[in-house]
Amino acid sequence: MAYYYTEPSRTFSEYLLLPNLTTKDCTPANVSLKTPIVKFKKGEKPDVSLNIPFSSAVMQAVSDHGMAVALARCGGISFIFGSQSVQDQAEMVRKVKGYKAGFVVSRSNLTPDHTLKDVLQLKEKTGHSTVAITDNGSPTGKLLGIVTSRDYRVSRDAQDKRVADFMTPFSSLIYGKSGITLSEANDLIWEHKLNCLPIVDGHQNLEYLVFRKDYDAHKENPLELLDSNKSYIVGAGINTKDYEERVPALVEAGVDVLVIDSSDGYSEWQRETIQYVKANFNAKIGAGNVVDREGFLYLVEAGADFVKVGIGGGSICITREAKGIGRGQASALIEVAQARDEYYRETGIYVPICSDGGIVHDYHITLALAMGADFVMMGRYFARFDESPTRKLRVGNNFVKEFWGEGSNRARNWQRYDTGGKQGLLFEEGVDSYVPYAGSLQENLDKTIGKIKSTMCNCGSLSIEELQQKARITLVSATSIVEGGAHDVILKESSLSEE
Ligand code: IMP
Repeated sequence: MAYYYTEPSRTFSEYLLLPNLTTKDCTPANVSLKTPIVKFKKGEKPDVSLNIPFSSAVMQAVSDHGMAVALARCGGISFIFGSQSVQDQAEMVRKVKGYKAGFVVSRSNLTPDHTLKDVLQLKEKTGHSTVAITDNGSPTGKLLGIVTSRDYRVSRDAQDKRVADFMTPFSSLIYGKSGITLSEANDLIWEHKLNCLPIVDGHQNLEYLVFRKDYDAHKENPLELLDSNKSYIVGAGINTKDYEERVPALVEAGVDVLVIDSSDGYSEWQRETIQYVKANFNAKIGAGNVVDREGFLYLVEAGADFVKVGIGGGSICITREAKGIGRGQASALIEVAQARDEYYRETGIYVPICSDGGIVHDYHITLALAMGADFVMMGRYFARFDESPTRKLRVGNNFVKEFWGEGSNRARNWQRYDTGGKQGLLFEEGVDSYVPYAGSLQENLDKTIGKIKSTMCNCGSLSIEELQQKARITLVSATSIVEGGAHDVILKESSLSEE
C-alpha cells in the first residue's frame, strides 16, 4: 500500500516569523549574512562560503558570465548554465575567472585610418566616449592612441578627418604596465587627473582600460566574493550524461563549485556522477534536487558537498502539472533541514542545503533561511535585472525581460529531466515567459538584503545560524493571509506621486 503523509505539503506563503527580543546591539549594520556553501567538519571552516546567501539558477535565461561577475561582486554565486556546449560553458567560466575587477577589455576600438565620422558612429552605437586606437582595430592590438570627446570638436572638424590626425598619440599617453594592481592604477589616475588609464604589455599591446568610475564602484563592494587569487568565485551546472567530458573542461577553466542540475536528484546517476568527480578531481560538487530526508541522505552518502532542495516550485515550472511529482517548498525544506541537523549531530559533518525555486517575496528568503536553508537559488528574481542575459522588451507600457524554463521547448535541456531512455525532451516541464523588468541587480539586492537584515533583527538574530536556532515560525490560516495585505481601505493609485 502506498505511504500517505498525514500533513499537506506547504509553501512559504503559509508561514510567518514571530519576533523575538531585539537587543540594542541587534541592528542591520551588525548582521552578517555569511554562509557556508560546501560541507565542513565541526570546528573547521568551510572551504567556500558566500557573503550573502544568494545563488542564481542554472538557467540559460539567468546565469551567464555577466550575471556571475555581477553577483560575485555583491557576494553571491552564479551557477553558469550547462545547457550549452562544453566549450561555450567553459569559456564563460574562464571569462569570470579572468575578469579583473576594475580592468575592462576595451569594447570600442578603431584604427588611425578611421575617420571622425567612424568615431561618432561608434560612440552612438556603444555609448562609450573613450575609443582605443590600435594598429588593427582590435581590443588587444598595438596601442597607438586614444580618442575621447576632448580630442575633437564636432562643430569645427570635418567628418572625414583621419583619427591619426586628432587622437592623443601613444607618446603623449600615461599608461600602466601589465601586472599593475588596481590600487596602483588608481594612483596613476589620480596623480595625472585621468578618466581612463590604458594598460599595455611589453610590446605596447593593449590589455585593459581602467576607468576612474570603476575604481569607485569597486571600493563600494566590500562583500565581493573572491578566491585566493582575487578572481571572482563562480559555479557551473553539470548533468549526469556528459560529465566525463564536461567536468574536466570546467575544472580546467577554473570553476570553483559544480552542481548537478536535475529536476529529480534522488538517482543512481547522480551518485555515479558525484563519485566520478570525487575520484578524479579535487572539486566541490553539489547535487539535487530532493524534497525529503531519504533523497538528502542518499546524496550525502554519495559524497555531495551540498544538497539542493525543491521540486516543482519554480516560477516557470510545470513539473507538478506534467508529472504529478513534487512537494511544497516549505515542507520539503523543513524535512531536509531536520535530516541535515541530525546528520550533523551524528557525524560532526555539516552539509549545507540550498532552497531552490519558488521564492516570490523577499520575506520568503528569510523564511527559507530560518527553516534551515544555508542559501537560496533563484531564477525569476535574477531574470528581471539588467545583468541577466536575455532581451529587454517593451510590452504595452511596461518593460519586461524574457525568462524561460530549462524544461521548456526553448531551452530543450533534456539532460535535466532525463530518467533514462531516449535522449531528447519528450514533453515540456517548463514555460517560456516574461518577467517585469526591475533595473539593476545591485539596487534590488540592496533592498532585499535590507529587508532580510531588518527581519533578522526583529527575530533577535545577528547571523543566519542564530536565526535558524532562534526562529519561531507559525502557520497562518487562510483568513489571516488576507489580514496580511492592505485591506479594508481604498488604495490611492500611487503613493509615490505625492511630495
Ligand atoms: P524560480 O526562482 O522560482 O524562478 O525557480 C528557479 C528554479 O526552477 C531553478 O533553479 C530550477 O530548479 C527550476 N527550473 C528551471 N527551469 C525549469 C523548468 O523548465 N521546469 C521546472 N523547473 C525549472
